[in-house]
Amino acid sequence: MGFKLGESKKKKKKKKSSQAVTLAVLVGAFPAIQAAAIPTPAASSTLPTGTSVVSGLNVLAKAAGKLYFGSATDNPELNDTTYTSYLDNSNHFGQITPGNALKWDATEPEPNTFTFTEGDQVTDLVKSNGQILRAHNLVWHEQLPSWVTSNNYSASQLTEVIQNHISNLAGHYKGQPNTDFGFRQDAWDVVNEPFNDDGSFRSDVFYDTLGSSYISIALDAAREADPNAKLYINDYNIEYTGAKATAMQNLVKTLQSDSVPIDGIGMESHFIVGEVPTTLVENFQAFADLGVEFAITELDIRMTLPETADLLEQQKQDYYTVVSACLQVSACKGITVWDWTDKYSWIPSTFPGQGAATPFDDNYEEKPAFDGIVAALQGQSL
Ligand code: XIL
Repeated sequence: MGFKLGESKKKKKKKKSSQAVTLAVLVGAFPAIQAAAIPTPAASSTLPTGTSVVSGLNVLAKAAGKLYFGSATDNPELNDTTYTSYLDNSNHFGQITPGNALKWDATEPEPNTFTFTEGDQVTDLVKSNGQILRAHNLVWHEQLPSWVTSNNYSASQLTEVIQNHISNLAGHYKGQPNTDFGFRQDAWDVVNEPFNDDGSFRSDVFYDTLGSSYISIALDAAREADPNAKLYINDYNIEYTGAKATAMQNLVKTLQSDSVPIDGIGMESHFIVGEVPTTLVENFQAFADLGVEFAITELDIRMTLPETADLLEQQKQDYYTVVSACLQVSACKGITVWDWTDKYSWIPSTFPGQGAATPFDDNYEEKPAFDGIVAALQGQSL
């Protein structure tokens, strides 16, 4: 299936109106029978959809001065050819983040035994589509095999474990080429989620064994393994001003003054409909003022189900707010949604009762949120 939005919109509208005519004729012909026979429409069929006709979100993002508009993806859904026909369209998605394939449990399940099958499946697709890779992630407290956490490694042993993991993993994916920008624009989320919400360092095997020095150990190892990758620290609840953002800014300053390589900060941006922070731009500017770039790395905006027209309208406003904030600060390099369709979003399984967090619905139909993104990328008001 192609992805010419203009064409598919026209077809869809035509189909809907011919259905309407058919129903009207039938109802007119057999009013009593048909009135009873017409099924109550499913709630979803009455919900508003997106209406923008554009050549692609990535095309618009680049026209607005960003490097990409992209999406996370995951290996199981790559078997869905309808899904991949959309994902492969670099007019829409100029950048891909593997959602799980590069995590520690997927890549080094046993000490010094590396498996790159899933990662390679995603990066092969990225390469053949001419997209940009954001690699995710090297050191994180989750999805960590038990051998890392339960061996009571000493500080020097754990340092070696980190360095070996990074040199093999980042070495394997070193400088994945992409046709648009060359090697330099690929990024690694080197350290993921190092802070608690109060701005203190998160207690995990890395921090508990090495203190915050695990962060510079990881960044140094990543620079050595892939000198051309932009090195990022990625976290959530740092998108707005507050203790956690301040802690991240202080970490950036410390790393810079210690000459540890740090190029960028990932703002995960897992938001809730109606609760998008109001201090995004101010906070983004504070990071930019430190001389680091940043990116919106995992954007989704979830709601308590069921979807309603009001929630979808608010979600459109919320996507508009986030994308506009990135456009207002030039150090914001790009925007990645944490998968682009509700069908494969991580939200329903992680936050029971919530969902519908992405700009496309389960059937790959654009939602009002899609229009919010388009309007923001085009610099229009809503
Ligand atoms: C999520 C994946 O999307 C899920 O499939 C997995 O079960 C759990 O992790 N922050 C991150 C991402 O940095 O790696 C997480 O991805 C979502 C939260």
